[in-house]
Order: sequence, then C-alpha cells, then structure tokens
Amino acid sequence: MPRQKIVIYPGSFDPPTNGHLDLIQRASEVFAHVVVAVLRNESKTALFTVEERMEMLAEATKDLENVSIDSFSGLLVDYAREREGRMILRGIRAISDYEYELQMALMNRHLNPELETLFMPAAEQYSYLSSRLVKEVNRLGGDISKLVPPNVARRLADKSS
Ligand code: PNS
Repeated sequence: MPRQKIVIYPGSFDPPTNGHLDLIQRASEVFAHVVVAVLRNESKTALFTVEERMEMLAEATKDLENVSIDSFSGLLVDYAREREGRMILRGIRAISDYEYELQMALMNRHLNPELETLFMPAAEQYSYLSSRLVKEVNRLGGDISKLVPPNVARRLADKSS
C-alpha cells in the first residue's frame, strides 16, 4: 500500500470555526496535502452558500500552502476515490462525537474497505465549539470574535445586519 500523502477533511463548515481551522493547521503539518471538502447538501438549510463557505475557508487558510479547498456532493467514498485519497480526517471534540463518527467511519469502510478514517482530537480550548452554536450566539447578539477567524466574524456580522 503506498504511503498516504493526501488527507481529505470533509464537513459542512457552515461556517468554519477556529476548531476547524486548528485541525486543518495541524493536519497540514502531518500530511503533504490537505483537501478541505465542503459537502453540497441540498436537503440541509445552511446559513452560507457552499461558495461562501469555500471562500471563507480559502481566506482563512491562505498561508497554508499545502491546503486546498473543494466541494463534493453524493457519497464521500466516491469523492475520495475521484481524488485518489484514501484517508479521511475528522475532528473529535468529546466522547459524545465518537459514536456518530465511528458509525460514519465504519459505513465508509463498508462502502470502500480501502478508505481509512483518522480521528484527531480537537484543541481543548475549542472542545465546546460548533458551527451551530456560533450561529445561534451570533444571531442573538453574543460575541463570537474568539470563536471564528476574523473573516468569518465579518461575514457573520454582515448576515445579521
Ligand atoms: O460537518 P459535518 O456536517 O459533521 O460533516 C458531515 C459529513 C459531510 C462528513 C457527512 O455528512 C458526509 O460525509 N456526507 C456525505 C454523504 C455520505 O457519504 N454519507 C454516507 C457516509 S456515513
């Protein structure tokens, strides 16, 4: 089996948070190439369009040369095959994340036994952080400036003005 150079980090990223960015940064130190892949999910109502989310991720990772931003629809295993990636990265914040993440990892392995999922613990200081809570706090007028990169904070402010 050839050594893995590329890792795919899939997610909704609606919007990207400091927790996501921390994971991307750490992964970029371990892998030759990190592909951040935004899911195009027609059935889920999102605050930001996929294009906006990709722009925010691109802005926030512009100094990381080995990180690229992409989007996908359909099955993650099919996308990984297309990109010739055999390693999926997911962040785990707390043990409560583990059950769902394990279920997805095992389903993905069932669909493609050659695909591995790597769990990386989220940074302690972001272990309570989620895109859903960031949106809620922002909508209700709370301060989210320490929870998301500045470019995301600006876009959130635009959405709520
Ligand atoms: O940031 P999220 O919403 O927790 O990310 C979930 C994501 C995008 C990783 C997951 O929903 C996914 O991979 N969706 C693609 C559809 C798919 O492959 N489903 C079967 C695998 S369980």
